[in-house]
Amino acid sequence: MNHDESRALYDRALAVSPGGVNSSVRATQPYPFFIERGDGAAVIDADGNRYIDYVMGYGPLLFGHDQPERVRAAIQSQAADGPMYGAPTRIEVEHAEFVARHVPSVEMTRFVNSGTEATVSAVRLARGYTDRDKIVVMKGGYHGAQESTLVEGTLQDTEPSTPGIPDVFAEYTIPVPFNDFETIETVFEDYGEDIAAILTEPILANNGIVLPVDGYLEHLRELTANHGALLIFDEVITGFRVGGLQCAQGKFGVTPDITTFGKIIGGGFPVGAIGGDADIIEHFTPSGEVFQSGTFSGHPVTMAAGHASLQYAAENDVYDHVNQLGERLREGITDILADQAPNYLVVGTDSMFKTIFTKRRASSQEADVCQRGCQQRESCARYTECPKTGSDVGQAETERWERIFWQEMKDRGIFLTANQFESQFVSYSHTEEDIEKTLEVYKETI
Ligand SMILES: Cc1ncc(COP(=O)(O)O)c(C=O)c1O
Repeated sequence: MNHDESRALYDRALAVSPGGVNSSVRATQPYPFFIERGDGAAVIDADGNRYIDYVMGYGPLLFGHDQPERVRAAIQSQAADGPMYGAPTRIEVEHAEFVARHVPSVEMTRFVNSGTEATVSAVRLARGYTDRDKIVVMKGGYHGAQESTLVEGTLQDTEPSTPGIPDVFAEYTIPVPFNDFETIETVFEDYGEDIAAILTEPILANNGIVLPVDGYLEHLRELTANHGALLIFDEVITGFRVGGLQCAQGKFGVTPDITTFGKIIGGGFPVGAIGGDADIIEHFTPSGEVFQSGTFSGHPVTMAAGHASLQYAAENDVYDHVNQLGERLREGITDILADQAPNYLVVGTDSMFKTIFTKRRASSQEADVCQRGCQQRESCARYTECPKTGSDVGQAETERWERIFWQEMKDRGIFLTANQFESQFVSYSHTEEDIEKTLEVYKETI
């Protein structure tokens, strides 16, 4: 594969953008390929190379790169009426009504412009609503580039995970391991009266993918309710992907107080949203006192794209299609691993998938294992060893993923997320042939 044009573009980009990119994760080694355009489930780079795409913009592109005609028409028609106005529009009401109809915990929604803005606002809302300052987050969870969640460490010894954040922020954030019942109980015993909220992804999708073990989300629900704290599900990735239109909270049957959305809810345009009970969401200004505002919030083109996309998904076989192909892919990779790399593990659910390069030693007696990606099933032969926390995933062969496997898949025309941690996605544009071709490439590469 020739990458001369991408190399030249990266050379130029390095002079005008930090690290040559506008989001750190895009700075793949040795240099990124620059994308010229999308086509169905594929992207074509500046040198004309074609890749089957499972990055899908890191999650927003439920339909892939070709939107259904109705969705495209809605976007074009809205854009033709002028990009935005600084006054309310019909489409943002219709989109909020749609979300309230489908997502169990949501009565009201405030739309913003990114997942980060959604989690920043949700944390402020929880603190304002409860009049408490501390928040609990999961180690290895990701909630965007925000001060309150870029915190790491142990219970007594937390610190910002990046320069530029005053240490004082870390005093108000308590990171705990996902799926760990004991630690979260201790945290609530010690600090219960100061905790405004637990903020967690229902599935760690930026670190694994790690599903909750049986009863864990229910446990978080009970603990928060018993201590007057709020439960915030960050469904920026899982929203309108896992569990279809009811989102992961519907699939798992656990109803949070606040939900943050992003990605799919904006149909491929910049978006975020904070939803929940009217009683809580109305604490945002102007109905309440927790300040929240934004020039581009509820942007009409984004609202038109998001609304038309979700309506299309409600009326067509979108989730059946992506979930079936996701299942086939996870099943196929599981078979390949059984032959070629039995120590590795397939994870994922619905249309999300990943292979974790676990260093565990595989036993020869593993008949009863999850065949379509780890489901945290207690009767599975691998249950005690499969990753339960973010740091379990961190112990995998992360360098091998990034420097060897990802590169070789890319050179064979398959575009995966470039690090061991982030999820990959199947879209409505993917076909059975794409999946079979991808499996062949996995077979050659693993
Ligand atoms: C779970 C989760 N929350 C929040 C964010 C931040 O969203 P954004 O990148 O749109 O700011 C992300 C981004 O990937 C995410 O995965």
